[in-house]
Amino acid sequence: MSVLGQSYYLSCRTRIGRVTARAMLGALRRIGACRSFKLPLDALSLPGPATSGLMKLWSRLHWMGEDGMMPPDQLLAIYRLTYTWPGDGDVVELGSWTGLTTCYLATACASRGRGHVYAVDTFAGTKEGGTSYDAVARHGGTTWPAFRRRMREADLEGRVTALVGDTVEQAKAYPGNPIRVLLIDADHSFEGVRRDFEAWWPHVAPGGLIVFHDYAMPEAGVRRYVDEIVTRRDDVEVSPGCVHPNVFAVAKELGVRGEARVIREAVAEVSALCAATMSGAVRVGEGLAPVAGA
Ligand SMILES: C[S@@+](CC[C@H](N)C(=O)[O-])C[C@H]1O[C@@H](n2cnc3c(N)ncnc32)[C@H](O)[C@@H]1O
Repeated sequence: MSVLGQSYYLSCRTRIGRVTARAMLGALRRIGACRSFKLPLDALSLPGPATSGLMKLWSRLHWMGEDGMMPPDQLLAIYRLTYTWPGDGDVVELGSWTGLTTCYLATACASRGRGHVYAVDTFAGTKEGGTSYDAVARHGGTTWPAFRRRMREADLEGRVTALVGDTVEQAKAYPGNPIRVLLIDADHSFEGVRRDFEAWWPHVAPGGLIVFHDYAMPEAGVRRYVDEIVTRRDDVEVSPGCVHPNVFAVAKELGVRGEARVIREAVAEVSALCAATMSGAVRVGEGLAPVAGA
């Protein structure tokens, strides 16, 4: 990443830094001097609308500051998956915290011109989710205000509906269309992941994608549950598979194997390039899991 890009990201860690960085970026844009800011994205060879969507998001919101839980390479892997995965339908996120991942999901939908995001969370944190109660206390016991502020700042309020409550309870009254992409990132215990998967599976469209985050987290039950379903269930397609050591994606039912392979390779390319360009970006589970089927 360029020196300019790095300075931008670093200064965005504080509110004052963000305001200043935005003003400087605006000035640099006006005199046409910030072309190098785009270089990392050019190297990622994302489709045009996906790139513009990201640029718009980053002009409003910083990806590393403010209490988001997902590192940039994983955010981009999930963004790429959500943008590229075929089909109609909506996107559901189980576990939104302060809404950083939600912004990437919603921007992917906005960039492809269709789909709504449902963000399901108690906004009260959990130990199982790797969210200590201390972290919630920093937000006054709930991340709901931070979530709403972030949606407003990112100008994504029209694309996102929050379903406030327990993930399993919310599945019973899900108001959206069949799900094209389901991101599971709430209770990371084996039982928690099992409950979420089983509660939401009926809402996933045939050919829909289910993405598990924290697959490589050693103390979580995610990997054990995913490995169990991909070996035991016939209706779970083990593709695209492990698109990143910490992100595992499977498809519901048949007919997507060839396409999934192409998408998996595209996402792997994004992750590798991000890891190379963003120093310190790959933290969790680095080098733990080989790409499935490779
Ligand atoms: C790991 S955090 C999500 C991080 C977020 N996706 C990100 O990357 O910034 C887990 C979230 O799941 C929520 N959560 C955990 N168990 C839940 C449950 N059973 N029902 C609803 N929300 C839950 C917590 O409140 C927490 O906000």
